[in-house]
Amino acid sequence: MKAEVPQYMMFYDRSEASKCLLCCDPVCSKACPQGADPGGMLRSLFFRNYIGAVRRITCNCTYCNAPCEKACVLNGKKSPVGIRNLMLQLTEDARVLPKSKIDKVDLSTDICGVKLENPFLLSSSVVASSYDMCRRAFEAGWAGVSFKTICSFPQHETSPRFSAIRHHSNAFCGFKNIEQLSDHSVEENMQIFEQLRREFPAKVIIASIMGQNEKEWSDLAAKCEKAGASVIECNFSCPNMEDDQLGSTIGQSEELIERFTRATKRGTNLPVLAKLTPNVADMVPMALAAKHGGADGISAINTINSITGVDIDTLVALPAVSGKSIIGGYSGSAVKPIALRFISDISRCEELKDMHISGMGGIEIWRDALEFMLLGAGSLQVTTAVMQYGYRIIDDLIEGLEAYMKSKGVSSIKDMIGGASGSIVNHQSIERDTILFPVFDYDRCNGCGRCYISCMDGGHQAIQFDLSDRRPILLGTKCVGCHLCRLVCSEKAISTAKKSIKRNPNTECTN
Ligand SMILES: Cc1cc2nc3c(=O)[nH]c(=O)nc-3n(C[C@H](O)[C@H](O)[C@H](O)COP(=O)(O)O)c2cc1C
Repeated sequence: MKAEVPQYMMFYDRSEASKCLLCCDPVCSKACPQGADPGGMLRSLFFRNYIGAVRRITCNCTYCNAPCEKACVLNGKKSPVGIRNLMLQLTEDARVLPKSKIDKVDLSTDICGVKLENPFLLSSSVVASSYDMCRRAFEAGWAGVSFKTICSFPQHETSPRFSAIRHHSNAFCGFKNIEQLSDHSVEENMQIFEQLRREFPAKVIIASIMGQNEKEWSDLAAKCEKAGASVIECNFSCPNMEDDQLGSTIGQSEELIERFTRATKRGTNLPVLAKLTPNVADMVPMALAAKHGGADGISAINTINSITGVDIDTLVALPAVSGKSIIGGYSGSAVKPIALRFISDISRCEELKDMHISGMGGIEIWRDALEFMLLGAGSLQVTTAVMQYGYRIIDDLIEGLEAYMKSKGVSSIKDMIGGASGSIVNHQSIERDTILFPVFDYDRCNGCGRCYISCMDGGHQAIQFDLSDRRPILLGTKCVGCHLCRLVCSEKAISTAKKSIKRNPNTECTN
């Protein structure tokens, strides 16, 4: 680790930490004879909160025979996580940790004037669907919840109702649900709100609602306000509804969005967010319709219409419910790029400048959160990562964000909102005349030749790979600077160019 690496970037290799199963009540921590928390350290590494990982090393592993590794639940089944080496490496890294530019940062922000102690809320879904769940989330450190969508019509759920696409590590890459709305009555949900408001006066309760007609939208908003909600969120975006004029059918019609937003505003003085569907080509007209109806902000994105896969033995799409399936909502890290695009579109629209944006869709770690904020989100919501890893991810979201801000010298999170918006330009304005050549670092290169294969079959045949010495060599006359080679390199041995040229087909470059 070199001293100039910023602290939020340190310890880049996650491969060993990603073996960790993130156990409940980690047995490795229980086994530590020095009372340290290796389980917490691994979790921080897993969620790329390097400073948090260092902070959790409160033991000296040099002469320890690592009972934590012996206790690891993987021991005997697969190889246990190499905790001791990770601890030693982190201890070493901690010695050259660069100094923070500032000591204190302020994560507090607001939704349309309603104060949030930090930008993180649970998004409306099963993760925020009962009193007990919200209480535990608040106690864990979440600033608020958008409660599971409240409606006055009965729900009829399927079993099973989820399916997932996984990374090699078993973590969800994308997640599909065919779940509907809250299965509590409106009255039961109002009692939950009253209790939460009494016991957690500083926490933000967003009431997600869905009506069947204008009167229901108004009435539900009024009831939620009376019961203690801080903000109303109109669910114009659930893709799993059985009837028209509900859920994402609304979010696809400017007329319905405007009409039902206006009806909601009639029922309440609270700020109103319109939660929009990504199942449209362009969300801006939909956000404008919400604004015309009186909305104070936009929540985005809800889930994306999807089929995650087909069981190739039974020939039924997933999840299979008595031999059939339906199109359902896709969420989780796979949808983040789509969510970011919609957030950016809305935040860059001049007419929507005064609207709050509550961003969501694939937020798992603090870097995801930061990216949403940099593109214009003022608050952040999470479901799928919590379904997978639990409320405890809030620790690493907060610590990771704080470490980044300290290292950059940014004292208030509000100063980062929209910080990257200006970097998105239209297709005509992007610079197209410079070629940045890739540069190979032969000390890091392991000679696998994947850059060569990709350049040969997916690029411009600009890499030579001699099988005798297994070193890639750039052919500058052929390289177009697409950087596919850099993206497939597992060793980070290819960097962005030190040399660049103004486009000229006759220019030569050698590496
Ligand atoms: C199981 C499940 C249930 C959901 N239920 C609701 C809901 O009742 N109301 C709503 O507005 N959004 C609902 N959503 C959408 C989420 O609030 C969120 O918009 C979406 O999942 C994207 O965020 P994520 O990638 O962090 O999960 C649900 C999502 C999931 C996965």
